[in-house]
Order: sequence, then C-alpha cells, then structure tokens
Amino acid sequence: EKGGYPDFMLKEIYEEPRTIRDTLAGRMVNGHLQFDELALNYDELAAIDRVYIIACGTSYHAGLIAKNLIEAWSRIPCEVEVASEFRYRNPIVTPSTLVVAVSQSGETADTLAAVRDARIKGAKVFGITNVVGSPLARESDGVIYIKANKEIAVAATKSFLGQVAALTLLAMLLGQLRGGLTTAQIRMLFRELADTAQQIEQILADTDTIEAAALACKDAQNALFIGRGIGSTICYEGALKLKEISYLHAEAYAAGEMKHGPIALIDPGFPVIVVATKSPTYDKVISNIQECKARGALVVAIATEGDEEIKKHADYVIYIPKVRDCFSAITASVPLQLFARSIALARGCDVDQPRNLAKSVTVE
Ligand code: M6R
Repeated sequence: EKGGYPDFMLKEIYEEPRTIRDTLAGRMVNGHLQFDELALNYDELAAIDRVYIIACGTSYHAGLIAKNLIEAWSRIPCEVEVASEFRYRNPIVTPSTLVVAVSQSGETADTLAAVRDARIKGAKVFGITNVVGSPLARESDGVIYIKANKEIAVAATKSFLGQVAALTLLAMLLGQLRGGLTTAQIRMLFRELADTAQQIEQILADTDTIEAAALACKDAQNALFIGRGIGSTICYEGALKLKEISYLHAEAYAAGEMKHGPIALIDPGFPVIVVATKSPTYDKVISNIQECKARGALVVAIATEGDEEIKKHADYVIYIPKVRDCFSAITASVPLQLFARSIALARGCDVDQPRNLAKSVTVE
C-alpha cells in the first residue's frame, strides 16, 4: 500500500506534484477560470464585502496564505479564524459575507459547526475539501475539491498543497470579479501555479541538505521558525509539522517580532529555521538571521536558487527554485515537511501515526 515508500508521509509528499496538477486540471478552459460546480451567482459574489476563512490546524494555515492573495487581488477584507474560536463568539457575518471553510476530511466538528452558524446568519459558504460527499461538501453552497486522493498519514502534506492551490484559484476568481486582475494576469498566474508541480519535483530530486540540517537539529529541545509575509505563514505550518510528528517543541513567529520577545530564547546551538526566499522583505529577513547568528543560533535557511549571499549567514541553506513570492507558499512548504519527517525519524518517532492524534477530529 505504501508503494515502496517507507511510510505514508513520504509517499504522500511525493504525490504532491500530482495533487497540484489534478487540483488545477480543468480549471482553465480557453483562457478562463472554470468553477461550474460552485453554481456561481455573479451578482451575489459581486456584493461580497467580507471573507472569512475558517478551518483548523494545517487547513487554517492554508487559509493564512490565502488571506494574503484574496486581499491583494480582490481588495475584499479577509479574516482567517480557527473554527473553534469563530463558533463561540459572535463574528460579524451577514448575507454579504463569504465564508470559506477549509477541511481536508470535510468532517471536522468545529469547522462544520462554524459553517452551520454562518449559514443561519445568511452567509454564502464555500467548502474546500478532499472528500467527495463529506458533510462539508453537502452543507456548503459550493465546493472546490482538492484532488489529493486519500491521505493516510496523520500529518497533512499533499492535502495542504492542494488546499493552497485551490484557495489560490478562488483568490484569482475574486480578483477577476473585482477587477483586480486582468484576464492576461490570470492566465499568467495560472501558468506559474501549474509550474509549481515541476518545481516540487525538482526539490524532491535532491534532499541531501534537508537531511543534513535535520540531523543537526534532531537533539534540540526547541526550535523557532521565522519569516516575513508569505514566509511567516509557511513558518506556522513548518512548526506545526515538526511538533506534531517529532514532539520537538517549535514555535513560529513573524520575524519582525523577534525583538519583541522571542530573541531572548536564542542561545548557542538553538535551531532557527528561516524562510529567506527572495521577496520584498528579503533584506529584513537577512538582518533577522544576522541577529540570531550573533547569539549563536544554528540557522537553517530556505532560500532561492542562485542566492549565494545567504551562505555567508546561514549554517545550512536549502535551495528551492525561483518563483513568484506568493507561490513560495507551495514550494517552500515541501522542504519543511521533509525536514520535520527526517527529524521525527531520527528521534525514533512513528511519522504516520503520532501519539495522541487522530486523522479526523469529529468531536470537539
Ligand atoms: O480534516 P481537516 O483539514 O479539517 O483537519 C484539520 C486538522 O485537524 C488537521 O489539519 C491537523 O492539524 C493535521 N494533523 C496537521 O497535520
């Protein structure tokens, strides 16, 4: 069943390029985005004045990435909230709110409860899920399926990438409706999004540095993941993956927050994993790395291919192909998943079935 792989997690990471391709298949026809199954009422969509993305765990992190894209391309205010918080307060939800519920399983109790509340308040609900016929699919006004096939490892990997791809398509659609993106821009973005499949293959073809960095960090008690912009959102997912399967305590921070507290943690050998891809805030991230290095941190950087400069600052540099900043959410997540897995294995953990966790959380 594992198809020759030692564990499901690795098998599922290797299925990521296919997940991207399958999730995008049929979505661009004659140069136009296709979402027939959303039963879109364009007047209703045009009236949307707020988007809420609700989800739990890894799916919530996919939402954090999408918020950046939705606001950039459509200029519609977008909030992302964990479903267990959303459902127990009184969020501002009206008939002109679009709620996007993200759940791999489509059966997470808190996410479903939040969807039900939102519908009572008249919101339009779109579900993003991997499971056809799941409660989320049934209870939403429209669904975008991610085509990840069955995911068995408790740690979400390929489904996360599928979610990010599907949410990117939704952000493009909203951008088109609001005039924030031209047809030509949408075609270009779609092509670049599709190219990430091949870029992931490139990352998977050489994982030696990821392994070496993982071995250097395996005996740590704590680790910090930092980045800025899209990079910070990737860090939240990288840290979750590491704690979930290796039981190594990890925190993620927006790098700009370091001086407001977390830098006090750094002492010699403290692992700091930095998403330092070429982005508008690259120079600021380099300064953050220098501040960590000055205090003896062991720095592992995820960087853009061709960036030689960063070798001066980091102990390990994991290169990924050059992509538009927003698509680094997809490519940079892959080495972070592999990094977590390698540390977990080096610490003797069962990567597919971590203690205390279930694949679907169908009770609160
Ligand atoms: O099925 P869902 O996407 O609703 O699940 C949400 C979380 O339980 C899930 O993402 C969890 O955080 C994963 N184990 C993370 O790898």
